[in-house]
Parts: sequence; C-alpha cells; structure tokens
Amino acid sequence: MNFPSQLQVFRAEAEQALDHFVPAAQTRPSRLHSAMRYSLEAGGKRIRPVLVLAAAQLYGCSKEAHAAAVAIECVHTYSLIHDDLPALDNDDLRRGRPTCHRAFDEPTAILAGDALLTHAFALLSSHYAERPTLAVALVRELGKAAGSTELIGGQMEDIEAERTPATRDQVEFIHNGKTAAMIAVSLVCGGLVGGASHDELESLRRLGRALGLAFQVVDDVLDATATSPELGKTAGKDAAAQKATMVRVLGLDGARECARVHTAAALAQLQKLPGDTAFLQSLIASLETRGK
Ligand code: IPE
Ligand code: IPE
Ligand code: MG
Ligand code: MG
Ligand code: MG
Repeated sequence: MNFPSQLQVFRAEAEQALDHFVPAAQTRPSRLHSAMRYSLEAGGKRIRPVLVLAAAQLYGCSKEAHAAAVAIECVHTYSLIHDDLPALDNDDLRRGRPTCHRAFDEPTAILAGDALLTHAFALLSSHYAERPTLAVALVRELGKAAGSTELIGGQMEDIEAERTPATRDQVEFIHNGKTAAMIAVSLVCGGLVGGASHDELESLRRLGRALGLAFQVVDDVLDATATSPELGKTAGKDAAAQKATMVRVLGLDGARECARVHTAAALAQLQKLPGDTAFLQSLIASLETRGK
C-alpha cells in the first residue's frame, strides 16, 4: 500500500477505535461526555495514534495497538483542552472549531480534560489486563510522558518563559516536554504492544524525540507563517503572547534548518528498526513539510 492510502487506513482505524473505546456522549453526565467527544471528534491530524499503529505494524500487530492509540489520543486531546484555557494560552479556536471552554464553559472543559486523562489509564490497564507486563509498561511509559518532568513540565516552563528572553536550551526543554515526550511515547507504546526488544524500544524513543522536536519547531514556524483557517487554530499567537519558540530564538530560517536537522536525526533511527519502515519514513518526511 502506498503512503497516502496507508495513512488513510491508520487514521480511519484510529477514528473507529476512538468511537469504540470512549464512552458515548449520552453517558451520564452527558454534558461531560459530550465535551470529551466534542474535542476528540473535532478531528486533528491523529499523528500520535497513527505513530502507535505504525510502530506496532513493524511487528505485524497494529490491531492489538488500537486501545493504546486511543489512550494516547485521549491524553493529547486533554492537553489541548487545558492548553487552550484562559489561564494558559487563552485560545478560541482548536481543530477548526471553538475551543472546548468556548463551546461549553470553563468548568466543563477542565473536567472534560481531567476525564480524558484518567480514561487513558483506565483503558490501558483494563484492555491489556491479560498481558499484565505489557499493561504495566504502557501505563508506566504514558504516565512518565504525561507527567511533571515531561508534558506538564514543558507546559510549565512554556508559561514561565512568556515575556522573558528565551534561550535555545530553554526552548529545547519546553519542546522536549510539551511535544516530543508524547510523540516518543506513541512509538514506544506501539513497539511495546508489538513485543519490541529493549534496543528497538530505545531506537523508537530516540526517533520519537527527534521527530517531536522537528514537529514542534514546525508548529512554531506555522504559527508565525500560516493562517488560522489553514491551521484550525489561531495563528500568530506565539508572537502576541511573547512565547519562547524556536522562531524567536533562531529566526524563521534558523528554525526551518533546525527542523531539517531533527528530521534527519529521526530518519537515521529507522535503520535500527525491524520490518518495513517505508511508511514511517514517508510520515517523518511529510511532517517536516506540512502546511507547505
Ligand atoms: C498540537 O498538536 C500541539 C502541539 C504539540 C504542536 P497537533 O498539531 O498534533 O494537533 P492535532 O492533534 O492535529 O489537533
Ligand atoms: C502545546 O503547545 C502543546 C500541548 C498541548 C501540550 P502549543 O501551545 O504551541 O500548541 P498549540 O499551538 O496551541 O497547538
Ligand atoms: Mg501552549
Ligand atoms: Mg497553545
Ligand atoms: Mg503552538
């Protein structure tokens, strides 16, 4: 299967799995479940679940990875709902729709985020209960990636660094935490479901770290160069909020070069992986040029 068709297949599988593994909107309290589904179903590129499925597919196990893909998309979507809140980035537009707190209200958005985060761990621990070693490893990996030294740590420093003179080091810490951790854990969880060796898991992690850095640098470039309709979120927010971004530290050309270097580092890890890596290769390359 060629790259666009395989991407479509993985995305469709992720959408179906999200519908299957997340409580229906009518579940009581329906306002909460409607808000969770509102943000999940708004679409998004589904990069993280696709990475879970693609990594598992290296071992011929993408079907078994559906629940892990959903858990990661739930954590990611929760992080977006909370990122958009007035106390954080104060955004009105997400995935081409009003943000969760605009469509519902702040209390509902906070609780919908809380519930998506918790659901992820409940899902992993119940769905993989018959493979307890796998279940524990998935929960441990996702817990670490979503925790205070990674995703939330990156978010914390992102907020702290607003309106301060940012250094490249600081931006790298922020990017590693708020973005690369979740991209890396997507590949690692796919590998875990597939039974990857220790060395293969570390290669997947390194690949994900590099890809995640490239992804966030491209996000920074697009924030400064694309339009809100193109992005489905408010463009120009980083400059307005004086965020610590790679564009601010390196300029647009420097940031683009930085994305190229991280993308090359991600591609270099592919040789250390088993199976057919053609899909991952095309996906990594396509993310560097997304929005162009
Ligand atoms: C948005 O992530 C937040 C960042 C880490 C840049 P995505 O760009 O993957 O957002 P969706 O899931 O496609 O909406
Ligand atoms: C947020 O980074 C990443 C997370 C949600 C953890 P940004 O604040 O740059 O993401 P966008 O630009 O709002 O999608
Ligand atoms: Mg933010
Ligand atoms: Mg934001
Ligand atoms: Mg951004």
